[in-house]
Amino acid sequence: MTHEVRGVVAKGKGTPVSVETVLVPDPGPGEALVRVQACGVCHTDLHYREGGINDDFPFLLGHEAAGIVEAVGDDVTVVSVGDFVVLNWRAVCGECRACRRGKPWYCFNTHNASQKMTLADGTPLSPALGIGAFAEKTLVAAGQATPVNASANPAAVGLLGCGVMAGFGAATYTGGVMRGDTVAVFGCGGVGDAAIAASRLAGARTIIGVDRDARKLAWAKDFGATHVIDASKEDPVEKIKALTEGNWADVCVEAVGRPEVLQQAFFARDLAGTVVQVGVPTPEMRFPDLPMIEFFGRGGALKPSWYGDCLPSRDFPMLVDLYLQGRFDLDRFVSETIALDDVEEAFHKMERGEVLRSVVVL
Ligand SMILES: NC(=O)c1ccc[n+]([C@@H]2O[C@H](COP(=O)([O-])OP(=O)(O)OC[C@H]3O[C@@H](n4cnc5c(N)ncnc54)[C@H](O)[C@@H]3O)[C@@H](O)[C@H]2O)c1
Ligand SMILES: [Zn+2]
Ligand SMILES: [Zn+2]
Repeated sequence: MTHEVRGVVAKGKGTPVSVETVLVPDPGPGEALVRVQACGVCHTDLHYREGGINDDFPFLLGHEAAGIVEAVGDDVTVVSVGDFVVLNWRAVCGECRACRRGKPWYCFNTHNASQKMTLADGTPLSPALGIGAFAEKTLVAAGQATPVNASANPAAVGLLGCGVMAGFGAATYTGGVMRGDTVAVFGCGGVGDAAIAASRLAGARTIIGVDRDARKLAWAKDFGATHVIDASKEDPVEKIKALTEGNWADVCVEAVGRPEVLQQAFFARDLAGTVVQVGVPTPEMRFPDLPMIEFFGRGGALKPSWYGDCLPSRDFPMLVDLYLQGRFDLDRFVSETIALDDVEEAFHKMERGEVLRSVVVL
């Protein structure tokens, strides 16, 4: 059976998204059909619409989602019908060279559904990050659906599916933030604020939020920033030096995706410290023009962070438990709940800095 549902589609570069009829096949081997309850609007969806990721239009957008498993393929054992799940884009294969070497968070062959969802005329859709959850139902690989405690609010925990997990993991796993560390987070959107919240949970001593928007800086404080810097008014590198007894930060997280911000993160880092690049650049951006002696002489590490080096099966249930215990405030990321028809407007609100996350609730 094919399911006819409504979904948000980006048809071409820079073209406003539209709600279209989407045909979703029944799950085959290894697949699960999920009735989506909530899906957050992430900056990466906007990158897709702008052609910043690739040119495989039309895209079925949406990838920060929670829902209920409605059907599974014959051989599926990892999830069952009725499970409450958060969707992930890291269903590890267990067989690639990263998985075999015991580093499955780098898995180079993550699973997606094999069957295509299509437009009504049969045009195949490219689901954003292999998910495509701005739709009433979506088809994923069974391993992309991670069961979590069913008492959690779908609009909040769905955000673990991408941005919040990426930011949390960028600080915790990629950056290795520890008790007593000094952390600077550049870009206090959903991703950056999750890095700030994670740094607080890890026991960081000083947590500095940097953004160009006063509203974002106020929210960063709510998530645990001990200090904030308005990069539109002050030089963050100098200010971070002043806030850290002249030493700069042990871990700098770049959560914007721009070369000039990476450059600031590089120079705001203490000797032997770590720079984490979690913001996604576009193809035309170039690495900052750094003197090589600065790279060598400062030591430490420059580390890109794909999805916060997370393992969804390990991290989603754990973070949902922290959320339910009141130790990790996921509700605070939800600025507003909206309908499928409001995604284009939500992009504009994101660009104007009015929201952390608009979440489509179905
Ligand atoms: N690596 C991953 O796995 C992963 C996962 C999800 C999202 N991302 C990326 O992370 C980035 C942030 O995502 P988001 O959803 O938080 O976006 P967002 O738009 O909510 O937040 C970006 C923030 O950066 C701020 N900003 C812009 N220019 C700045 C500057 N020059 N200096 C300081 N702050 C500046 C903006 O005011 C905004 O608050 C995006 O590039 C997104 O694609 C990466
Ligand atoms: Zn693998
Ligand atoms: Zn995302």
